[in-house]
Amino acid sequence: MTSTTHNIYIHVPFCMSKCNYCAFFSRACSAPDWDKYTKDICNEIEFWGKKLNKIDIPTIFFGGGTPSLMPVRTFETIIQTIKNTFNLLPNAEITLESNPKTINKEKLKDFYHLGVNRLSVGIQSLDDNKLAFLGRKHTAQDALQLLDEANNIGLRVSADFIYGLPNENVDEVINTCKQVNKLGLQHCSMYELTIEPDTPFGKMNLQMPDNETMAKMYNAIGDTLNLPRYEVSNYATENQHCIHNENIWDGEPYIGIGLGAAGRIYHNGSWYEQLGDYKKFEKISNCVRATEMIITGMRTKRGCRLTDDVKKAIDINWINSHPELVQVHNNRICTTDKGLLILDDILVNMVK
Ligand SMILES: C[S@@+](CC[C@H](N)C(=O)[O-])C[C@H]1O[C@@H](n2cnc3c(N)ncnc32)[C@H](O)[C@@H]1O
Ligand code: SF4
Repeated sequence: MTSTTHNIYIHVPFCMSKCNYCAFFSRACSAPDWDKYTKDICNEIEFWGKKLNKIDIPTIFFGGGTPSLMPVRTFETIIQTIKNTFNLLPNAEITLESNPKTINKEKLKDFYHLGVNRLSVGIQSLDDNKLAFLGRKHTAQDALQLLDEANNIGLRVSADFIYGLPNENVDEVINTCKQVNKLGLQHCSMYELTIEPDTPFGKMNLQMPDNETMAKMYNAIGDTLNLPRYEVSNYATENQHCIHNENIWDGEPYIGIGLGAAGRIYHNGSWYEQLGDYKKFEKISNCVRATEMIITGMRTKRGCRLTDDVKKAIDINWINSHPELVQVHNNRICTTDKGLLILDDILVNMVK
């Protein structure tokens, strides 16, 4: 059996400058070689086209790095190559990650007319002092302007925020959520600041909020935001979930395009893991794939699909004896609110 549907993730590994906290695969570059980048990406798309034939593409996610730095002609060539190679579905969700001050209204309109229908804006904070501390090169006002422009054009919009900064307290996080509520967003992501070793923050001796304070912040976000949580870090109205991420969390196949991009290919009844370089991929067992699906699915409100492989990988007796933490509904297994707070412990116990 060959899968007829794959989502596509395209990695854009360039940024204007590196932020103090970020370990994502990207480098600061004022003038990337976009022609080479375009050629490499299109070669990869065609490589997968030859392997998978004209499969359906329901979503494309341009992530980074900073995809909004891409010249319009780069984006246009990539989308055209995808259309020539695969069957890009007419209502496909096409998301572009963006950084304020890397894209103006005209360029945003061009992207929209070429097919982008969802913009994810990296705002991170609404406080200019915190933005400077994080190493961001824009102000809160710059970010709000980009949100406005995207809304006026008719794009679906999401915004990323980071909480749990050194010395930040729960009241400040609550205050941020109240400000976010006033923005009228239908989707936002709230990420707890992670200190990554090979970053400027990793080399500083930062005084981070303790685990108990972080847990209070997490609960306060859930209680204060006017958007329901649908994944550990994601909040949205019912019809504004990120379809691309939801498909991936639900265990659907996806092609990773671009250096360092992860992917899970389903071909002739087997799963393959891409190894960051498109010519390298290796078979993974159904059991490994089911475990990945449990890990990502259990982070979502709707939970993990109970496929035959998932059923084989879980300890159903443990699950049935902990209804206060995990429950089975509509052929899905999900955490309760209480369970979500100790998800890692639950995963250790429920996976065989
Ligand atoms: C690829 S970036 C988004 C697009 C764009 N490059 C930007 O920064 O505006 C993805 C998101 O991951 C989050 N992120 C990155 N590193 C993080 C860290 N160490 N801790 C918490 N969140 C982080 C940020 O919120 C960021 O917006
Ligand atoms: S957070 Fe975004 S802009 Fe900052 S370094 Fe990471 S990918 Fe680049």
